[in-house]
Amino acid sequence: MNYTYAQYEESAAYLRGKLNGFRPRVAMVLGSGLGYLGDQVENPVIVPYGEIPHFKHSTAPGHKGQLVFGTLAGQPVAVMQGRMHHYEGYSYEEVSYGVRVLRLLGCDTLFVTNAAGGVNFTFHAGDLMLITDQIKIFMESPLRGENLPEFGVRFPDASYLYTPALRELARRQARRLDMDLKEGVYMYFPGPQYETPAEIRMARVLGADAVGMSTAPEVIVAGHCGMQVLGFTLVANMAAGMLPQPLSEQEVLDAAEAAREKFSALVLACLEHLPAEEA
Ligand code: HPA
Repeated sequence: MNYTYAQYEESAAYLRGKLNGFRPRVAMVLGSGLGYLGDQVENPVIVPYGEIPHFKHSTAPGHKGQLVFGTLAGQPVAVMQGRMHHYEGYSYEEVSYGVRVLRLLGCDTLFVTNAAGGVNFTFHAGDLMLITDQIKIFMESPLRGENLPEFGVRFPDASYLYTPALRELARRQARRLDMDLKEGVYMYFPGPQYETPAEIRMARVLGADAVGMSTAPEVIVAGHCGMQVLGFTLVANMAAGMLPQPLSEQEVLDAAEAAREKFSALVLACLEHLPAEEA
């Protein structure tokens, strides 16, 4: 199934009705155990996904399933506390639906965060990684189906999905905070099973530094509709086969909890120092 432009507009109109003229600039999609930033939004207007026409629910652990509008580090933001995943049974179009709705509400920038498995041998569990690029070659694109020209062109360029100027901003802020920030390529796997050791060896050969089950669809859609994107990965665990132990969901949530402070500090610093919107 493909959504129509009118459906995106309907969702946006419903939200506008709640916002009293407030216009968010930065859309934030927060991953496993990282949704707490949404709790720091000032003067929040909270809208559960279930209320919004055409919106899907998120069922994954550590994902609340609500939109929080308000001010964070001085920026007008719209925080998706909880994202949808393909493994929950949603199509890629459904997974990335919210990004387009937030674009219609005025967001020109997307901040995405996720927890992922480290593939790069120089990484350690607990590291933060600036996403420089992504690999999503398996399964279809969220843009499959009739193109909606109101959002973008049929064959969008993907050379700079993660905006170079925002990557530079992140490096600067990490330096300022005296924080070690890794960099690398995020490779998407559909899950929900974690990867096999053989799949991780493959991912490494293909150029991945981290692997996870989210983010890539939303970023493709954001790029299509002309948004700037900044992405961070929390390396929650080393990927399958790299350590002599199995992976667990609890380990991922614990790592998110442990990284909370430095992760928040970096994301808030990037928000605060985001260059002013182009007129
Ligand atoms: N693989 C895929 N997704 C993940 C992982 C992993 O190792 N850790 C957290 N999310």
